[in-house]
Amino acid sequence: MFGWLKKRKDHQGANGRFRHGNDHLIELRQVFKIYETAAGPFKALKGVDLQIDYGEFVAVIGKSGSGKSTLINMLTGIDRPTSGEVLVGDTAVHTLNEGQIAVWRGRNVGVIFQFFQLLPTLTAIENVMLPMDFCDVYALSEREKRAMSLLEQVEMGQHAYKLPSALSGGEQQRVAIARAMANDPPILVADEPTGNLDSRTAGAVLELFERLVAQGKTILMVTHDRDLSKRAGRIITLADGEILEETTGDRRPETADTLKQTPSVPTSSFSSLESDILAEKSTQPSRTSAEDHHA
Ligand SMILES: Nc1ncnc2c1ncn2[C@@H]1O[C@H](COP(=O)(O)OP(=O)(O)OP(=O)(O)O)[C@@H](O)[C@H]1O
Ligand SMILES: [Mg+2]
Repeated sequence: MFGWLKKRKDHQGANGRFRHGNDHLIELRQVFKIYETAAGPFKALKGVDLQIDYGEFVAVIGKSGSGKSTLINMLTGIDRPTSGEVLVGDTAVHTLNEGQIAVWRGRNVGVIFQFFQLLPTLTAIENVMLPMDFCDVYALSEREKRAMSLLEQVEMGQHAYKLPSALSGGEQQRVAIARAMANDPPILVADEPTGNLDSRTAGAVLELFERLVAQGKTILMVTHDRDLSKRAGRIITLADGEILEETTGDRRPETADTLKQTPSVPTSSFSSLESDILAEKSTQPSRTSAEDHHA
């Protein structure tokens, strides 16, 4: 299943797992998703072709119901195409069975949701350690230290032993980002990660993403916010299950070097509990059982 990890030599990811030549890191070929509904078959994706290269920061925008979540659920393996191919590195994700997908996702894709999806009975640090326990990439003895280091990277070290209910929305999302990074996956996929945050906290989450892209991650982010989408390198607009247009965002490759100089996201960006407005809390029911499965 991971044969491609060894084959590609000329482009190494941050964790060495993606070794890439001229091929795309992520490729969707003629992806259709058809839901069977009481009213008949419904085409949520109508033959989407998409390529994403290593180190790209891509935003996906489009009206509600245009297929954004369906699209990104294809490449996390949370959902399967009715037809078409989903290739990530050398893995044909659409061919994996449930068990293989869970292991593959755990190691290769960090998923971040709008409603954070932290487990409410686990502390922040336990939430971050959970994917490590599941995937066994890091030795048992390393996990707590690594989880703390990830929490510190998102300015949450001081809250490590709190339950999610004692954290603000922005804080919970930062823990969720640390959790997504648990196994050092090369790809992060975020479905409206700032949808539940006030604009200042949303901006801080974007800064964090920008820093992660500068460190070598590839990020695909769904957002309703056009201003935030412009901070990506590429903006894909979906309409009725099809890619309507692709435009260039404001992010330039040279920005990456600048961002590398930035030691961390300023604490002030995250300081106010009150302004970390969250209309809904992490204890909200999940939107899909597949998301539950992931969390
Ligand atoms: N399980 C399902 N069964 C039937 N139809 C579905 C199912 N999941 C999604 N759809 C339909 O597919 C279309 C695309 O849904 P999707 O969730 O991808 O939209 P979206 O662009 O993410 O919207 P939003 O911005 O509201 O999150 C919608 O019309 C939705 O009603
Ligand atoms: Mg959606």
